[in-house]
Amino acid sequence: MASDAPVGVFDSGVGGLSVLREIRQLLPAESLLYVADSGHVPYGEKSPEFIRERSHRLAGFLLEQGAKALVLACNTATAAAVAELRTHYPELPIVGMEPAVKPAAAATRSGVVGVLATTGTLKSAKFAALLDRFASDVRVITQPCPGLVERIEAGELNGTGTRELLLGWVEPLLAEGCDTLILGCTHYPFIKPLLRELVPASVSLIDTGAAVARHLQRLLAERDLLAEGEEGTVRFWSTGVPQRLETVLPRLWGKALPVEALAC
Ligand code: SIN
Repeated sequence: MASDAPVGVFDSGVGGLSVLREIRQLLPAESLLYVADSGHVPYGEKSPEFIRERSHRLAGFLLEQGAKALVLACNTATAAAVAELRTHYPELPIVGMEPAVKPAAAATRSGVVGVLATTGTLKSAKFAALLDRFASDVRVITQPCPGLVERIEAGELNGTGTRELLLGWVEPLLAEGCDTLILGCTHYPFIKPLLRELVPASVSLIDTGAAVARHLQRLLAERDLLAEGEEGTVRFWSTGVPQRLETVLPRLWGKALPVEALAC
């Protein structure tokens, strides 16, 4: 039995659009709801308690809109809140992000893997468990990236400031022999073209948007919840200034669409 109910997706801001794009590409029939918590971005340096509270509110809103599944398209929110949301909604398919440590550990030839992520993600117990589980045979160097999410939110995907910030983080990793770089935040795929210019072609850049879309597909299929038929609809909300998201949608989503204001 198919389900036309929408999939609810949220992030601290525009980063989750990188995941939404993968979901749209893999599952075009699904209708999608996207909330950018732009009134509270960035999450990266905020407390886990604050992020859990925001995640509960946003999940509650998406469920009120009829979501049949949730995607936490934010690594920091996943690290802080996915376990609690799963306990709170035991029947609901919930997909979270996690830095791609397992594929990176399998891919590295030098044995040195770099992780770019927020402080919140890197300090989380979830990330520590991931390293214990999958990275015992490789050296993992973590690099928090304060200020990068704000630049991406502001559309500075290729400017001198963003380039210099990235160089300052990436050059030491390369000097240590890193040949595999994990993009551990859903905002970072938007600066992948810039990163590609800054690191040698031999360095792999790994993110998890496509894997998350496949995981969602599996969970929906197991429950007979996959939508069928024509292309699904998409609705956007922002807890910040909706016009800001509207301005970047053509570039980051590929289409101009209205954004509704959400007081939440
Ligand atoms: C942030 O809002 O600081 C980052 C979101 C993420 O970790 O994906």
